[in-house]
Amino acid sequence: MAGGSGTRLWPLSRAGYPKQFLVLSGNTSLFQQAADRLAALSAEDIEVAAPVIVGNEEHRFMVLDQLRELKISPTAVLLEPTGRNTAPAITLAALQALAEGQDPVLVVTPADQTVTNSPAFTQALQDAVRQAKDGAIVILGITPDRPETGYGYIRSGAEGAGLRVEAFVEKPDADTAQRYLDQGGYFWNSGMFVLRASVWIKALQKFRPDIEAATRAAFDAKAVDGPFVRPSKDAFGIVPSESIDYAVMERCPGSEFPLRMVPLDAGWNDLGAWEAVWQVADKDAAGNATRGDAIIADSRNTLVHATSRLVSAVGLDNVIVVETPDAVLVADRSKSQDVKKIVSQLNASQ
Ligand code: GDD
Ligand code: MG
Repeated sequence: MAGGSGTRLWPLSRAGYPKQFLVLSGNTSLFQQAADRLAALSAEDIEVAAPVIVGNEEHRFMVLDQLRELKISPTAVLLEPTGRNTAPAITLAALQALAEGQDPVLVVTPADQTVTNSPAFTQALQDAVRQAKDGAIVILGITPDRPETGYGYIRSGAEGAGLRVEAFVEKPDADTAQRYLDQGGYFWNSGMFVLRASVWIKALQKFRPDIEAATRAAFDAKAVDGPFVRPSKDAFGIVPSESIDYAVMERCPGSEFPLRMVPLDAGWNDLGAWEAVWQVADKDAAGNATRGDAIIADSRNTLVHATSRLVSAVGLDNVIVVETPDAVLVADRSKSQDVKKIVSQLNASQ
């Protein structure tokens, strides 16, 4: 899933060049890191097909170029004229897989995360794939360390040798998130989902038949152009916009579509905001991180990300500085989630 906009990483992340295609940690983009992680899942009993990408029409050449750098030639690149959130995006991928006469296990993954422990990631995902082969919907759970409100929360309980999901709550408010943390037994949803294509379609038909029918209509009227698959623009434009989390995951526990959870302890990080970029960066002894042409003196826990000029900072404490040719951001580290307010103001004034 590579069609998000990443507004909290402004000014580096823009509508035309959103965060998943940026190099924010390491030497490759987040999208490329996600593709690489999937390629590593193959095992004696797991055959990994080339990825199906679902993204925005505007980014099609970026998708192909970045995959080419990895020598990956995608099974298909499904192009959305406008994003309708993740439930329709996954539906397009599932319909594409089923149209090829197969019912593979889909490893549905966001394109905006980092993982530091690749072997642990591979092992957890392989475990999830094996469970999904038997028809289960499997989600990957992260042990929470703060009452983050931007994530889904999973309450899990033992079932046989594995874990069953008793409740799934998407983006709770701050008090609820704190209560979950105090109570214990809760995990964050990593945003990765592992399930057979046909299971996804059946679950969506049950919980949101309107999304299933509207997306199917758009897919059936598609145009194919090499690797690019374009659902009908008019038909896709009226698909209800909803995330997989609200449309399906919250409703699964207690239904005929039970969820299972595999814990993921692999240094997972969702690079949602600049705070997270600072978290995963290589830092000096005082906690400072730089990228590009940047110099920091007498500062602590500060991130300076320069793209076009020399940027210098003196005496800063817990500050984020991001420089691009036409915009500069200076923000308190603890407020980096609020960068989306700047983007809203900019959009309103345009
Ligand atoms: N193709 C496509 N079309 N992709 C999309 C669209 C869309 O309309 N909207 C979002 N995506 C992609 C994003 O680029 C990202 O890779 C992924 O889908 C998830 O979307 P986000 O918008 O980043 O979701 P989130 O971070 O708010 O929440 C999800 O991820 C959290 C973990 O990072 C949820 O699944 C949460 O429950 C989860 O905790
Ligand atoms: Mg996200």
